Amino acid sequence: MKVLIATEKPFAKVAVDGIRDIVEQAGHELVLLEKYTSPDQLLEAVADVDALIVRSDKVTADVVDAAKNLKIVVRAGAGYDNLDLDALTKKGVVAMNTPGQNSNAVAELVFGMLIYLQRGGFSGASGSELKGKKLGLHAFGYIGKIVANIAKGFGMTVYAFSPSLARNPKLGEQYGVTAITTPEELYDKSDIISLHMPANDQTKGSINYALMSRLPENGIIINTARKEVMNEADIVRIMEERPKFKYATDILPGNHEEMVEKFGIRYFASAKKCGAQTQEANINAGLAAANQICKFFATGDRTFQLNK
Ligand code: 3PG
Repeated sequence: MKVLIATEKPFAKVAVDGIRDIVEQAGHELVLLEKYTSPDQLLEAVADVDALIVRSDKVTADVVDAAKNLKIVVRAGAGYDNLDLDALTKKGVVAMNTPGQNSNAVAELVFGMLIYLQRGGFSGASGSELKGKKLGLHAFGYIGKIVANIAKGFGMTVYAFSPSLARNPKLGEQYGVTAITTPEELYDKSDIISLHMPANDQTKGSINYALMSRLPENGIIINTARKEVMNEADIVRIMEERPKFKYATDILPGNHEEMVEKFGIRYFASAKKCGAQTQEANINAGLAAANQICKFFATGDRTFQLNK
């Protein structure tokens, strides 16, 4: 079988080498398309492959159409809003992700961004500490749970809201967090919010003015989730109204220039999404993807299938 790694944002070399070992030891062939600059290059590269490993690369209906032999696609990572699951299902292609594999990297970045904002962009201005602050986790999956653990090390009080926690608040006790049953209450209680939900029909644009205005005057939002969950006009409005409000995002917003111009060091955006861009996360997610593909070809194993 022919396995393609198609990554506009490449894995670390050590991860690609590890993937190659797994794929070749299982008797398959590995091909690589990295740093491609146009969707046409992806359409061409998928033409004869049986399996595909991607990151945030868009697997559209056109890609699925062009990949005549495709049997499985694995998103090496958590969020799969880049996969057209309907198109994949229609063509009988199995889609998987690798949940949890890159979570630690994202969780650590939350604190990097938070300290950057709290210390005025390391400008030397008098800043603020994390100790004693109330952190609200908006969603509580793999990443939220690691963020909760790290936050306790900083001496923060941690609250969390997610639909599963709302149904079973006792789950929070296991992680030393207070489970909150509505997003509104989470924002009422918190000084700082860290977003950890997927982008879907329920969450897109859901971080809006009504919710954000429940935070204190000097509230902070950290977005390592997806650009689409934030209402971009509303974050501008709240930061204009509140001169101490801050926002950091790992996903460049549509209104980046406006944010830089208006808010200076109260705002930060990564030049390129880097939450999962560590050697360790690349190895964890990349090797998991390779193993899942080889197991699928060897035994038909469909653990982590998304389009059941
Ligand atoms: C994910 O959903 O796993 C993260 O957003 C990482 O995405 P990336 O693989 O494009 O860095």
